[in-house]
Amino acid sequence: MNKLILGDNLDSLKKLESESVDLIYLDPPFFSNRSYEVIWGDKGEIRSFEDRWSGGMDHYISWLKDRVEQMHRVLKPTGSIFLHCDYHANAHIRVFILDKIFGEDNFRNDITWQRTNNPKGSQYKKKNLGIATDTIFWYSKSNKYFFDDTRIRTELEAELVADKYPKIDEYGRYYEYPILRSASKGARPNLVYEYKGFTPPFYGWVVSKEKLIEIDLRGDLGWRKNGQPFRKFRPHEDPGKLVNNMWDDILRIQSNSKEAIGYPTQKPEALLERIIKMASN
Ligand SMILES: C[S@@+](CC[C@H](N)C(=O)[O-])C[C@H]1O[C@@H](n2cnc3c(N)ncnc32)[C@H](O)[C@@H]1O
Repeated sequence: MNKLILGDNLDSLKKLESESVDLIYLDPPFFSNRSYEVIWGDKGEIRSFEDRWSGGMDHYISWLKDRVEQMHRVLKPTGSIFLHCDYHANAHIRVFILDKIFGEDNFRNDITWQRTNNPKGSQYKKKNLGIATDTIFWYSKSNKYFFDDTRIRTELEAELVADKYPKIDEYGRYYEYPILRSASKGARPNLVYEYKGFTPPFYGWVVSKEKLIEIDLRGDLGWRKNGQPFRKFRPHEDPGKLVNNMWDDILRIQSNSKEAIGYPTQKPEALLERIIKMASN
């Protein structure tokens, strides 16, 4: 528990028991051949960095494949791997590593992480488009993998709250939501009752009288000038949208953010939090 291992992951993985790991997030060098991959600068790291680039793409793929094979071995049958990469090698990684080791049937998603909306260099005239996205491949070890997408809804952004909840009362923002059933759904005699002098037609209220009183006491029942009731739907009741495979709501670490340690490819905790919540228990 709570153990951090520093070392070449091939050696370290070989020491781990088979089927002992719930979830893997892997953020390997991206085949971008950039020296920022060297953090510590010790001999081992520099050698590993130089080794990886000596033989081009094939060499990189076989370097990574050896490690992903070990990751597959240590994963539990209910486990998943999330492999973060980008355009430099993503096609090769999917076809030559993940499909081969995990199997095409265990491909779950390719997730696009939009890490910036203002890619470097986009302000200059270039001969191609700026790159705003990374790829995260999700493969499971079997079809019995853990997944709970209800834990990863997107929150409504502050500036959107005002648009979506245009009205305001002493309890805060809301929009008007029906409290009466729609006529097309037919008669519901048990939901036709009188409340504060108002009795709906045959189609009735959407809730029982007990529930209606609760809503009213919370301050969530409103009345239009024409005497029609409505429900006040408030931002805290908004469950957010289910997350899909386009992750454009998690920005890369800004240089002034609390998490930032200055390493150029540092990934935001929010990204990891989403993966951990959806794919582990
Ligand atoms: C894209 S960066 C990861 C960034 C990291 N996820 C973060 O948020 O700061 C790739 C990392 O892989 C490490 N690395 C390269 N070869 C390795 C190896 N053989 N074993 C373990 N780590 C290695 C590099 O030192 C570098 O930190």
